[in-house]
Amino acid sequence: MQRFESKTVVVTGGGGGIGGATCRRFAREGAKVAVYDMNLEAAEMVAAGIRDEGGQVQAFRCDITDRASVDKAVEATQQSLGPIDVLVNNAGWDVFKPFTKTEPAQWDKLIAINLTGALHMHHAVLPGMAARKAGRIVNIASDAARVGSSGEAVYAACKGGLVAFSKTIAREHARHGITVNVVCPGPTDTALFADYKEGAGNPEKLMEAFTRSIPLGRIGQPDDLPGAILFFASDDAGFVTGQVLSVSGGLTMNG
Ligand SMILES: NC(=O)c1ccc[n+]([C@@H]2O[C@H](COP(=O)([O-])OP(=O)(O)OC[C@H]3O[C@@H](n4cnc5c(N)ncnc54)[C@H](O)[C@@H]3O)[C@@H](O)[C@H]2O)c1
Repeated sequence: MQRFESKTVVVTGGGGGIGGATCRRFAREGAKVAVYDMNLEAAEMVAAGIRDEGGQVQAFRCDITDRASVDKAVEATQQSLGPIDVLVNNAGWDVFKPFTKTEPAQWDKLIAINLTGALHMHHAVLPGMAARKAGRIVNIASDAARVGSSGEAVYAACKGGLVAFSKTIAREHARHGITVNVVCPGPTDTALFADYKEGAGNPEKLMEAFTRSIPLGRIGQPDDLPGAILFFASDDAGFVTGQVLSVSGGLTMNG
């Protein structure tokens, strides 16, 4: 019996680096995986890889900033894969600029993707979990939420907001048997990080600085994240809620 056999798992941003690795791990551990992404082609590619390995998976176009799109994807998932047992809010986006050089239109986009998007997903999925008195939610924030990060002020504000939101929802829904926890990646080798390096101007120098400041001596790889995410989603974490775990090679160490 595998850990997630017969469980339906939704991963937003499942077409990306960390999301794709997370979808593959859930599928290998027996889950029926719903790969949500606004980029359907990327979601389909991840789904095709999982299907080739014999996993159960379906890709869905879902723009988390658009409530109608979220409701449509959630409804379609429940029709084809069954009630949602696990929700991983992983979709994210960033622009890398000092705060005073950013424009309000960029703040709106950052907030829509990194904060409001996760709120839409919770709002759509929580009532079903509460009615079934069971559910696991894992939110992907960032070490930027815990210690700040130059060039990422609004993104960090959203991720900090997501941490506070997660703790509150963990309290509101504990009596429904739902747990809500947060994983904070550090710098991780994905498309988002490639954009960050580009935006920062001097990618080689930045990589050198990160490598020096990360105690375990390297930046993260997408496959470093699923272990922590699947732990929070598993039965082993049944008595763990409202917690925040950094997976960042020791870059930040919080008490
Ligand atoms: N890579 C890092 O260094 C790093 C560090 C800290 C936190 N994170 C967080 O990890 C998560 C995954 O990021 P990643 O590094 O794998 O990035 P990525 O760019 O590889 O993947 C992000 C995915 O989210 C999707 N997405 C963006 N906007 C969306 C929307 N409105 N609706 C649905 N999907 C949308 C993209 O299409 C993409 O497939 C994000 O929440 C990110 O903030 C990443």
